[in-house]
Amino acid sequence: MKFGFIGAGNMVSAIVKGMTLGTGSYEGKSIFISSKSVASAKKLAEECGANACNTSREVIQNSDVVILGVKPNVLSVILPELQGDFAEKKPLVVSIAAGKTLEYLSDFFPEKTPIVRVMPNINAKIGASTTGLCVNEFVSEQQRKLVGDVFSTIGTVAEIEESQFSIFSVIGGASVAFAYLYMDALAHAALKAGMPKKQALQITAETVLGSAKMVLESNEAPWPLIDQVCSPGGTTIEGVTALQAEGFEATLVKAFDAVLAKDKAIGQKK
Ligand SMILES: NC(=O)c1ccc[n+]([C@@H]2O[C@H](COP(=O)([O-])OP(=O)(O)OC[C@H]3O[C@@H](n4cnc5c(N)ncnc54)[C@H](OP(=O)(O)O)[C@@H]3O)[C@@H](O)[C@H]2O)c1
Repeated sequence: MKFGFIGAGNMVSAIVKGMTLGTGSYEGKSIFISSKSVASAKKLAEECGANACNTSREVIQNSDVVILGVKPNVLSVILPELQGDFAEKKPLVVSIAAGKTLEYLSDFFPEKTPIVRVMPNINAKIGASTTGLCVNEFVSEQQRKLVGDVFSTIGTVAEIEESQFSIFSVIGGASVAFAYLYMDALAHAALKAGMPKKQALQITAETVLGSAKMVLESNEAPWPLIDQVCSPGGTTIEGVTALQAEGFEATLVKAFDAVLAKDKAIGQKK
């Protein structure tokens, strides 16, 4: 099975590295990469023992699966020129473009082209992405598994209905930045109180990691866990009530709604 990547930026680099250097699940020589400048494709290919191509056409000609790794607004620029190549080779198409729906994508390919829409996140760089995946009606079970296996090399994969994809994009995509922001704010507060920021960030990140594991592994919902941390008249409940009084949850819901609205707007743009 040969895999082609159009684009060699942040996300494609994370995926190709996860497939090859990270997990060793795929041989570099089965991977073909193109980019606008060619230089970034060459650099990534050299690092991973993959093949750099001078054109995206060459990538399609060599691949059974083509992963579209350019920015969402670039798709409508490059895909019309590549229509003939896709029609001839008929690869399985995978898009990682944020906000671009299966219906939007299908307009660029011959009828009945199998298309998989995937949404990884930047934690892919350390093999810890939470990746969402949905397919159109022409994707077989085998093809779905094939793409799931590729993205499992950069973290976990959740299959979701496309109708819920925008929701996924918030909680599995944008919320990565929310979590970074939360940790940075706590480390700043610790700095203000006298602890070096580096040490504070390490402690905060480890605590977030532990809390996430607790939610995943204890089968407990967060509120009963919060109750376990808050002793009567204790310190933690002071912080929890302060957060609630300042609209912590309402602010998160607002942030969620803002990302959701933007994701849907991008999806509607041609
Ligand atoms: N970054 C994330 O956290 C993230 C998360 C989820 C999904 N995504 C999706 O992943 C996709 C890529 O994002 P990114 O952050 O990796 O972008 P990026 O770092 O800017 O990379 C974009 C790549 O596209 C290449 N490119 C541009 N025009 C091209 C053309 N005409 N032909 C071939 N290649 C071309 C660029 O080539 P040069 O290297 O020569 O400039 C570059 O390698 C986007 O659709 C985004 O929505 C990203």
